[in-house]
Amino acid sequence: MIYLDNAATTWPKPKSVLDTMISLYAETGVSPGRGSYDAALEAEAHITKTREDLAAFFHASDPQRVIFTASATDGLNMAILGMLSPGDHVITTRLEHNSVLRPLFYLQEEGIITTTIIPFDGDGYVDPQAIREAIRPETKLVEVTHASNVLGTIQPVEEIGRICAEFDLEYLVDASQSAGRIPVSMEAMGASAIAFPGHKSIYGPTGTGCLVLSPSCEIRPTRFGGTGTASESLRQPQDFPHCLEAGTHNYMGILGLSCALKYLQEKGLEKIRGEEEALMHRLHDGLAGIRGLEMYGAVDRRTRPHLAVETVNVKGADPDDVGAILDGDFEIAVRVGLHCAPLVHESIGTAGRGAVRFSPGMFTTPEDIDLAVEAMGRICASYK
Ligand code: ALA
Repeated sequence: MIYLDNAATTWPKPKSVLDTMISLYAETGVSPGRGSYDAALEAEAHITKTREDLAAFFHASDPQRVIFTASATDGLNMAILGMLSPGDHVITTRLEHNSVLRPLFYLQEEGIITTTIIPFDGDGYVDPQAIREAIRPETKLVEVTHASNVLGTIQPVEEIGRICAEFDLEYLVDASQSAGRIPVSMEAMGASAIAFPGHKSIYGPTGTGCLVLSPSCEIRPTRFGGTGTASESLRQPQDFPHCLEAGTHNYMGILGLSCALKYLQEKGLEKIRGEEEALMHRLHDGLAGIRGLEMYGAVDRRTRPHLAVETVNVKGADPDDVGAILDGDFEIAVRVGLHCAPLVHESIGTAGRGAVRFSPGMFTTPEDIDLAVEAMGRICASYK
């Protein structure tokens, strides 16, 4: 299989991640932060070290505010439900994933918050000035995705962060597509919180993710339970990370995440980014040369910041059929449909049918890209 669905989840994972998870878990698969025997203390030390490493990687000042979650969706829900109060106004964008849109829509339907959803331009970028103009006295939160999962466009998150700082607004960044691919610095963005999955471009296992909070970010817990601390109290502890982390940790997953982070750091983000950019240009230029293909997002990949994500349609073809042909005839795995981002598709005119998304990853080769381009050329020719 030629796997070009890395925006959904990356595959394969580095061998060291799998080996570490299996061997360490076989030896010390106990509950971290609960028992006082050696193995439990060692497990807790692994978790603490991973928090510290993640805080350093994302330029977050307090490792205790690195909260382990089950996914980016989980972290985004925790942030949105835990930070907002009745009467708050939220500014977000049409680039967002349902992991943001659905909790916001839920709060809006319940009459708890109001929202303003900012459009993006023809290339797939949000204008920070549009966010500034949408600010109201009751605006509490601005939420923006760092990079679109459909268009691959990297948003001006630092400029938006400066506007949030100017108006003293909370600022949540969805780093689902960017974490592990491009530098994500909470400090540079001025973010109150970021959420990211462990299983995408960090190359950890599914079932992992984090919500990372700035020291000043105020948040209420939205789930309650055992923390292994202050157990005599029926109240959720107020200290971080315990206030937000109830229940047994995903120890095996966190070990995998920790090992994946080490792998990325050894390889180097800059090298990973350079390789990805080469694949992106090869894919974009190859697809752009095919007659009968509709392409979406920025045309100029050389001057506008972009991830290696390419969303297209074959004129006259149902994207589901194109995906099935790619899979059945060429053994190429892509994601078709709306990519859980319905407003993006509405804006680019593909809400009714969806589109075909190619997303290379760290283990994609130039030959994989050439085969995908050739396959699309043959499919387009057959629909003429
Ligand atoms: N958000 C993931 C995607 O874009 C699942 O496919």
